[in-house]
Amino acid sequence: MSRSLDDIRADLAGCRRCVLSETRTNLVFGVGNPHAEVMFIGEAPGRQEDLGAEPFIGAAGQYLNTLLALAGLKREEIYIANVLKCRPPENRDPRPEEIEVCTPFLREQVKAIAPEILVTLGNFATRFILKTDRGITGLRGQVHITGRFSVLPIFHPAAAIYDRNKGPIMEDDFRLLGRLITKRREERAAREGRIQS
Ligand code: URA
Repeated sequence: MSRSLDDIRADLAGCRRCVLSETRTNLVFGVGNPHAEVMFIGEAPGRQEDLGAEPFIGAAGQYLNTLLALAGLKREEIYIANVLKCRPPENRDPRPEEIEVCTPFLREQVKAIAPEILVTLGNFATRFILKTDRGITGLRGQVHITGRFSVLPIFHPAAAIYDRNKGPIMEDDFRLLGRLITKRREERAAREGRIQS
């Protein structure tokens, strides 16, 4: 049995499970369509997200919004959450002990939403979902099947803002996401057609 998003959110209220609770302004739970076909997973809240209590509302989020259109997606159709729910000071990398205490809640969010496609943004989300030590550069641009999910690793939008050479690669990967969505929809329609006939 999976818990509802509201139950998971309530469990996290006032969370003190790791040191990030001492420096955060807000816990950033996740946002979007609770029945999304596509769920995006980022790394951790940045400054804007910490202040606004919502993932991807800063510069990386603005860029993400423009890329979504290439996949034929609107922001309100998807769900977005992060590996960590609280901002690491100075946006440092998540630490193993923080990932360990925080990701059971992300796992529960994935279960509750039950998306068909998981898009992992950057190394931390990709390593967590694919249970790998391999880096994003070698994993992006390909669809990985794990359990019932199609997983598409993509560079983190902040990395692509920093390194403009990644822009065309990001665009290709979001077009690939669009094709993957179409394929999964066609497969679902064929399955449902078989069940009805
Ligand atoms: N970067 C992330 O990984 N997540 C956010 O929510 C914002 C920036």
